[in-house]
Amino acid sequence: MLPSSPQSALDILAFHRDAGVDIALEDAPIDRFAESVSESQQSRRETAARDPEPRVLQNRSSDAGAHVTGLTPDRDNEQKISAAPVSPDTATLAAREAAKSAKTLDELREALSRFDGCALKNTAKNLVFADGNPKARVMFVGEAPGADEDREGLPFVGRSGKLLDRMMAAIGLDRTSAYIANIVPWRPPGNRTPTPQESAICLPFIQRQIELADPDILICLGKPSMQTLLGINEGIKASRGRWREFDTGKRIIKAMATFHPAYLLRTPAEKKFVWRDMLALKKALKG
Ligand code: URA
Repeated sequence: MLPSSPQSALDILAFHRDAGVDIALEDAPIDRFAESVSESQQSRRETAARDPEPRVLQNRSSDAGAHVTGLTPDRDNEQKISAAPVSPDTATLAAREAAKSAKTLDELREALSRFDGCALKNTAKNLVFADGNPKARVMFVGEAPGADEDREGLPFVGRSGKLLDRMMAAIGLDRTSAYIANIVPWRPPGNRTPTPQESAICLPFIQRQIELADPDILICLGKPSMQTLLGINEGIKASRGRWREFDTGKRIIKAMATFHPAYLLRTPAEKKFVWRDMLALKKALKG
């Protein structure tokens, strides 16, 4: 529906901005309500054609499992059953299973793209899995993609990514000598912080990603990454810059939290602390 006047167009834009909508995912609007009505009509027609005697939909062995685990069956002609959303516990279990069964980073990316247990996937445009060199000795882990990352499908490509590049360059690193990922691989709407539940559901995937990349050093960018991966519940100001141990599942590696580049863009006076942290990282990489 077209706005009736320039003012009402501005009002609609203001409404969307206030609701946290800050990018257009598609060129034209999609009426999801109309879609689900016509999908269920189509599904009823198909059921009637197959089975003229209507009866209660029963669990078909393989499909039932798929919905319980939160994994999308990867068969092309799958008829979608409208399932109740999976519970967070079920989704976390499914994430653990899917992550564990991935034997390589490519398999892990594939498993994530098939995983339906995290609702952020529904609003994100792209899966943002990783950038940089998976064989690098250092891995940086941020929080979640923003709008630029969501559009490009790569982590840290927006303004805070440019600052991360400068932080790395200050000690001679770039994306050929560092591996970069996020706790949550889908953009939370309006760039909000991922909920603890969303982080918990995605945690098995990033843990496995670290295990498979097998870096010597892990750098957590910002408090959510530090809290989720290092299990530290203090604030980042008190905890950054200290070496800790991180158990990848394969071995114990060194880990440190530092300020998130997005925080530094808002609070440039804190850059001196990150400079110290980067120097500590450089020294550790030499050791
Ligand atoms: N902030 C993050 O934590 N990750 C990104 O990829 C971009 C911004």
